[in-house]
Amino acid sequence: MTVTHTPKKLFIKTWGCQMNVYDSGRMADVVAPLGYAPTDVVGDADLVIFNTCHIREKATEKLFSELGRVRAHQKAREAAGSRMMVAVAGCVAQAEGPEIQRRAPYVDMVFGPQAYHQLPEMIARVSRGTGVVLNTEFPPEPKFDALPSEHTDTKVSAFLSVQEGCDKFCTFCVVPYTRGAEYSRSAVSIIREAERLVQQGAREITLLGQNVNAFHGEGPDGTIWNLGRLLYRLAEIPRLKRLRYTTSHPRDMDETLITAHRDIPHLMPFMHLPVQSGSDRILEKMNRKHTADDYRRVIDRLRDARPDVALSSDFIVGFPGETDDDFAATLALVREIGFAQAYSFKYSRRPGTPAAAMPNQIADDIQDARLAELQALLRTQQEEFNRRLLGKEIPVLFENPSEHTGKLFGRTPYLQAIRVVGAPHLVGEEWSVVIEDSSAHMLSGSLMLIDAA
Ligand code: 5AD
Ligand code: SF4
Repeated sequence: MTVTHTPKKLFIKTWGCQMNVYDSGRMADVVAPLGYAPTDVVGDADLVIFNTCHIREKATEKLFSELGRVRAHQKAREAAGSRMMVAVAGCVAQAEGPEIQRRAPYVDMVFGPQAYHQLPEMIARVSRGTGVVLNTEFPPEPKFDALPSEHTDTKVSAFLSVQEGCDKFCTFCVVPYTRGAEYSRSAVSIIREAERLVQQGAREITLLGQNVNAFHGEGPDGTIWNLGRLLYRLAEIPRLKRLRYTTSHPRDMDETLITAHRDIPHLMPFMHLPVQSGSDRILEKMNRKHTADDYRRVIDRLRDARPDVALSSDFIVGFPGETDDDFAATLALVREIGFAQAYSFKYSRRPGTPAAAMPNQIADDIQDARLAELQALLRTQQEEFNRRLLGKEIPVLFENPSEHTGKLFGRTPYLQAIRVVGAPHLVGEEWSVVIEDSSAHMLSGSLMLIDAA
């Protein structure tokens, strides 16, 4: 597309999950035709977007302190006779729109995750001086159909949103309220976007969704495709080397998806499958609709299909009513399954969610102690998992030169970060590496001389 607008600068700061990272990239794509090029320097920006996350606490306070700082830049711009537009996007915008307008009236646009494809119209309205734009509806027109097909900044490892929203209503979670009901894109538009990403240099694609394995999009044949079916089709794209997907729900691990892990070499042997707790009593209060045994069975099926699959999970400690025994059940489940990595959080009371009103909220010091104990265990497992690879030969996809001169940054099939001495032309290629050193968060090794691809 020809750019007919004067060049302008765009600064985006992103909090939260990979879906927000994807959304921020797409916002940059939406405004690129208006002449906005990315900058890392907030003071230079003509448009500042804060893409926010509401899943755990302090998000709103962090946003307001960030807004306070940007207000100083905005005033400096006004004094110099130019303008800096400020936008708040994402889940805090969706949940706290009017509060943001009240406390930070200098914010020009407040819009939720379902509205960013309308950025050009919102920018035009602000430029015309028609006041603050508050856009937190769930518009009937599907956002994905309205987004440009071009990505302006494709990486070797790219994200692709296939599904949004959630109908599961776990009692601790804001997602069903901020992201809305579950919605799957059509398989045709996903395949087209994946092909374009590969043309633009992507060699790994991670399919994203709050409930990615609940995907049920219309297929090219008019039937409804599940995630497994979509993965089989995406694996046919020439030059695409790796496929991943996140985040999944244990209840949606259907047979096609499990079989896909057995059949598709492109599908990486790594699975992020949040369990949240090992206690059935707590899982019930969380409205997870699965038991700890259901989770064990899913893991068994996955391991039968793909014996080397590495596992990751999310845990919440200190959920209302959690006893020492409940917490011990979580530790026992972790010991039994063995995780390659995991995320663990203190339960955070989110206004408007059912758990916020539950009795027996857990004191902070107990939450802290449980979190420390769980994290120590998970860290030992992660170190142990990494150490087991020492001396082994593993295919690594190189993503970019690392910040260490002469080294490349890449990832193993198990999503471990790795640094290897290598030439920049290897970026985008998959090569065998002998693993020589490991810590909890980074591996290093040496290139083998034979191409692993
Ligand atoms: N408190 C703590 N952790 C939460 N998560 C979601 N909501 C909350 C909350 N209120 C965690 C869950 C989820 C991950 C994305 O964030 O573990 O899987
Ligand atoms: Fe939140 Fe539960 Fe939906 Fe995950 S499945 S997004 S934790 S409500």
